[in-house]
Amino acid sequence: MSASSSAIESMLVENRVFPPSEATVKAARISGMEGYNALCAEAEKDFEGFWARLAKENVVWNKPFTRTLDESNAPFYKWFDDGELNASANCLDKHIGTPTENKVAVIFEADDGTVTKTTYKELLARVSQFANALKADGIQKGDRVLVYMPMTLEGVIAMQACARIGATHSVVFGGFSAKALQERIIDAGAVAVITSNYQMRGGKELPLKSIVDEGIAMGGCESIKNVYVYQRTKTACNMVAGRDKTFDVALAGKSTDCAPVPVGAEHPLFILYTSGSTGKPKGVQHSTGGYLLWAKLTMDWTFDLKPEDVFWCTADIGWITGHTYVAYGPLAAGATQIIFEGVPTFPNAGRFWQMIERHKCTIFYTAPTAIRSLIKAAESDASVHPDRSDLSSLRILGSVGEPINPEAWMWYYKNVGHEKCPIVDTFWQTETGGHMMTPLPGATPLVPGSCTLPLPGIMAAIVDEVGNDIANGTGGILVVKRPWPSMIRTIWNDPERFKKAYFPEEMGGKLYLAGDGAVRSADRGYFRITGRIDDVLNVSGHRMGTMEIESALVSKSDLVAEAAVVGRPDDLTGEAICAFVVLKRARPSGDEAKAIAKELRDWVAKEIGPIAKPKDIRFGENLPKTRSGKIMRRLLRSLAKGESITQDTSTLENPAILDQLGQAY
Ligand code: WT7
Repeated sequence: MSASSSAIESMLVENRVFPPSEATVKAARISGMEGYNALCAEAEKDFEGFWARLAKENVVWNKPFTRTLDESNAPFYKWFDDGELNASANCLDKHIGTPTENKVAVIFEADDGTVTKTTYKELLARVSQFANALKADGIQKGDRVLVYMPMTLEGVIAMQACARIGATHSVVFGGFSAKALQERIIDAGAVAVITSNYQMRGGKELPLKSIVDEGIAMGGCESIKNVYVYQRTKTACNMVAGRDKTFDVALAGKSTDCAPVPVGAEHPLFILYTSGSTGKPKGVQHSTGGYLLWAKLTMDWTFDLKPEDVFWCTADIGWITGHTYVAYGPLAAGATQIIFEGVPTFPNAGRFWQMIERHKCTIFYTAPTAIRSLIKAAESDASVHPDRSDLSSLRILGSVGEPINPEAWMWYYKNVGHEKCPIVDTFWQTETGGHMMTPLPGATPLVPGSCTLPLPGIMAAIVDEVGNDIANGTGGILVVKRPWPSMIRTIWNDPERFKKAYFPEEMGGKLYLAGDGAVRSADRGYFRITGRIDDVLNVSGHRMGTMEIESALVSKSDLVAEAAVVGRPDDLTGEAICAFVVLKRARPSGDEAKAIAKELRDWVAKEIGPIAKPKDIRFGENLPKTRSGKIMRRLLRSLAKGESITQDTSTLENPAILDQLGQAY
């Protein structure tokens, strides 16, 4: 674990600490470290009682639960499993008849700047009407519905409508390819797709529906009976008679009342595919009761949400962050939230800051990659600097998706938060459903680059390869020792893989393995994530499996004989994808190498999506292998970084190819 030792060094030099102001502590829901410690003590003392209390206080149950945690079939844990609820009712109906019903739920700002506001009452009517449209086509509880939508209010409506009738949604990010879509339709056995004719991003109109058509045409998607098409733009798209209908047609004559269908707490609210360490993405299955509890509760805890807040999470609904902190959490908590369709750099890189001013945003939650790119933009063009906007409405800042480097943290803290907004650096994963480790704005002293401490009830720890605890100050493997309500329930269609990937026998079969390395500081016991310990990369906060990209490359079988993919650090994107490729023809150089590299990049974009395109492609006559034929990835990682090879290469079968693979063209 060499990554950990360098992290320890930076931890030792990181001695800046920013405690919350007295006023913040006083006004906060979890007030001071005493408040935090009291909740942790409650969870330690009576683990089930703690969760039962929170589940009763924060979730509206149609049928109250009597069992809190069922561990009889561990690691397939069940929470609140004899209780019944509906997720959409917990986000919408619950506010009706309260002052929240006429509150703005969503301020939507389109790519072109058009703003629309929707109240809770209006949103409930729209969700209900769409739910009735799905019902009219026979879609029912337990069916899977694929959502391939732009970042629009209609995307959230689609998800909420599924939840309302007990259908399990599976959202696929609008940047994924037809092939990726087809694979997910097949794996989930989806009966319908909800999509849009086009999407608007950065002033450009990009197709979505044609990609759905292409994906379905690839075969194996006979389960799809209906395709719903939101007409985001006026441009016509292909419509298949008997299968496809526009939203307008689907909604015509449908009532705006639709009784929410109660489901068991363990009913799968959604499946969200994410990359793992094999070539095939994992369908992470989440529950309804435990997930919803955590979505609501972390809004209150992590963001210390107040009724007057204007919350803005910039994540797309295609990722878990957009599920928990756009589609469910803010609504369950009764917040006013901003939903933004576009990109941070259009029409200029001041867009985020201008929007904060325009909508008087109070809580702003974004990714380190976005911050780093906006720092760069502000440094070269003063007109897009956050100083040009009035950011005085802000009170809390958040970071999510990847480690935030202390330099970016300090810039965010000073230039966006004006040294008065705590930054909650939230560590979590698709699998965890919601925040796991994060500072609390009115309690935790901040240390730049550290996600600080686990939330109350989250039993995070650092262990060695066999599951033994490791002392603070030493790097190790991040685990969670006890289950928690919003945890992944299984991998859709693959319970064995779920067990192996997350509860490995080598570590006793009881510890949840996050897949990250971490170190705790010797002084405060604060956690710092040191990066993935498996073959998963984090590029701009997007999770990519190296094996997935390798399979995509070798599937171009007329050209590629072999491929190995590794990550290398990148100032802007966190990590960058570097592919080492052996062709079925002579090793190319110069312009030919450039042309083939472009062809391969385009191929990967078509197979997976543009986000998986390798930044660097190097060609060699072979890959560095041991005598037993194992690819020596640590050497490739060094080559990717442009380091000279100082490691022991004595076991290397073919040392000469290191020179070839080190060469750019
Ligand atoms: C991986 C999970 C968190 C939801 C969005 C990404 C990395 C995430 C942090 C953070 C350091 C972080 C981890 C994790 N990660 N947040 N605050 N500090 N690393 O979800 O796509 O499932 O990726 O993102 O490596 O395992 P995801």
